[in-house]
Amino acid sequence: MSFDPSLAARLQRARGILARSDRVAAFSGAGLSAESGLPTFRDNETDALWSRYDPIELASVEGFLANPERVIEWYNWRRSRYAAVKPNAAHRALAGQPRMIQITQNVDHLLEQAGVAADQVDHLHGSILHDRCHAGDCDYREIIDPDNPLALRACPRCGEPMRPAVVWFGENLPQTTWLRAQQLCMSLDCLLVVGTSATVYPAAGLIELARQHDSRVIVIDPNPGAAGNQADVYLAGAAGEVLPALLDGFDLATAS
Ligand code: OAD
Repeated sequence: MSFDPSLAARLQRARGILARSDRVAAFSGAGLSAESGLPTFRDNETDALWSRYDPIELASVEGFLANPERVIEWYNWRRSRYAAVKPNAAHRALAGQPRMIQITQNVDHLLEQAGVAADQVDHLHGSILHDRCHAGDCDYREIIDPDNPLALRACPRCGEPMRPAVVWFGENLPQTTWLRAQQLCMSLDCLLVVGTSATVYPAAGLIELARQHDSRVIVIDPNPGAAGNQADVYLAGAAGEVLPALLDGFDLATAS
């Protein structure tokens, strides 16, 4: 890859931070999977999901209750796209750091497909490859085959509708996962922030939390956005190009 001189200098600064860091974690968003061919949510006007679809209709409890068939159909369309893509160089670069925890807003499982152990990934926004019962007091879940996703149906345990096991606007994050992510971000030397607009809270607040607890922040994203403004080093570029160069030769760990 050919770096412009300022990016090369920033990359050296970022590698210097990593060399001095005992505890490093990654926090990623949709940009991590962009080079696999999955659309992001909001960074460009033509492809991004929330430019084309209404998040209240498709990613909220009220939208689901108003038209559950439409919501399930939309997620099944997204599932068919997931079935067709593979991890990219950015996922593989992160997977090359097996002792580093991955905190991700992504509902895909491309990090795991790239080789990250399932217990090393905190899925803050749930999983598109699972369905769960919509009832708050029923914990019935099913794995979904993205090639053959199921239509709207009732929970076999309690009869309430089944729905994708993702977090919708207005819903709480999965509490154990969220707690672990917050605790991690309070004890880091460096947080790698990859491909997120850092606009959706509470997840985006992890960057500020890490900074408040003296972590350095390295941001990799073609657009600086809200994350870039909080970066000690901002690396402008595609994750699949920048991450392999940034992480080459390191054996980073979250627990020292
Ligand atoms: P966004 O779509 O808001 O932001 C994607 C980010 O990825 C932008 O900053 C882009 O500049 C960046 N990007 C694009 N291509 C990239 C590449 N090749 N390499 C690196 N970065 C790239 O996505 P998120 O921040 O993940 O919520 O959005 C947060 C949440 O909003 C999502 O988890 C989702 C959505 O509503 C739920 O599903 C609950």
